[in-house]
Amino acid sequence: MHKNDKLFVWHPYASAIDKNPIYGVKKAKGVNLYLDSGEILIDGMSSWWCVINGYNHPVLNKAIKKQVEKFSHVMFGGLTHKPATDLAKKINEITPSSLQKVFFSDSGSVAVEVAMKFAIQYWHSENQSNKKKFLTVRNGYHGDTIGTMSVSDPINGLHSIFKNSLIKQYYVACPEDINSYSRKTSKSLKEMEKKLKDKNTKIAAVIIEPILQGAGGMRIYHPDYLVQLRKLCTKYNVLLILDEIATGFGRTGELFGFNHAKIVPDILCLGKSITGGYMSLAATMVSKKIAKSISIKKPGIFMHGPTYMANPLACSVALANINLLLSYDWKKKIKKIEEILHKELKDISKNNAVKDFRVIGAIGVLEMKNKVNVGSIQKKFVKRGIWLRPFSNLIYIMPPYIISKKDLNFLLKQLEKVINLEY
Ligand SMILES: Cc1ncc(COP(=O)(O)O)c(C=O)c1O
Repeated sequence: MHKNDKLFVWHPYASAIDKNPIYGVKKAKGVNLYLDSGEILIDGMSSWWCVINGYNHPVLNKAIKKQVEKFSHVMFGGLTHKPATDLAKKINEITPSSLQKVFFSDSGSVAVEVAMKFAIQYWHSENQSNKKKFLTVRNGYHGDTIGTMSVSDPINGLHSIFKNSLIKQYYVACPEDINSYSRKTSKSLKEMEKKLKDKNTKIAAVIIEPILQGAGGMRIYHPDYLVQLRKLCTKYNVLLILDEIATGFGRTGELFGFNHAKIVPDILCLGKSITGGYMSLAATMVSKKIAKSISIKKPGIFMHGPTYMANPLACSVALANINLLLSYDWKKKIKKIEEILHKELKDISKNNAVKDFRVIGAIGVLEMKNKVNVGSIQKKFVKRGIWLRPFSNLIYIMPPYIISKKDLNFLLKQLEKVINLEY
């Protein structure tokens, strides 16, 4: 397997002749990854933040098996099915009532592309076709496709090589860290208002990740920032797109990031943990106002349609996953994870190599002073039975919500040992 991997496979954010080790997985169950080489690891990544209810869950397995016996896929143009309609209804039940229509797609990046197209098409329907640019904040991350890269951080993101090939959008300073935010002095809000005042006739929407900027720096900001941003968007007649692909479904301690601020977006992007990490599925929700405008005015249709749109296997497992999440006291679980992360990361951050630590919900972040050598540190993690994948100067933990106190404490103790060894 590894020979073929080396010969034929290209891994994410990697070189085709990558020297870093790649670990083969033969089984995954609960919070454990079982490697070909025999190690059993406690997963602190939830497979890029998706596996909220753990691997190989009997309830989720059952949902997908039941659907596969019926049919695995049908085109969504002109056809529909219960998994999609039930899931859309469920999403409606757990989101604000002004959001209504759900457009399914196959990945987070596409959900954001779809959101951007909805915003552009809405203004086209409203006879304001010049409103087609996007305004966003620095340090954001919204995906890897060309459109989403244009609204992700243009300089320090993963995408700087492409910056001259992308549509130029408007950027302002990122929201201040939660501890240094003040409405009165926020440079970000000031810049945001100025840009909206000057350019609102050109801006279709503001797009932002609520509460936590994820892959652009794992930065937590104040809910009041979102309250003010919502007001500014309304004042200057610009739509607000919230990208909840990383923060949705409980990760930050509220069901959605925007619940911290009690605001409502015009367009909402969901993905990642929606299926509990079983299959790739994403959803873009739009307000009734947007749906109505696009549908009754010219051209009367929304111009997008992924081949695997609303895949029934993915919809079935997503519905089972959301029901499973809502069936236990997930808030309490996440609060406990938050407390443990806070206590242990505070201790670990005594190491001189650590610049800062921060925690929100089931997300714990160590910001190191220098860039982390991922290949080297990961070997040490694996040797000690844990799975983490740092990036840049960030070592972060986003465990499945079902992790036990014992496993989480083990994970953090091993992390501490590795950091003390490495630095
Ligand atoms: C906030 C946010 N938006 C969009 C994406 C892109 O999602 P996907 O990787 O499913 O395309 C990500 C992925 O990390 C994300 O964190």
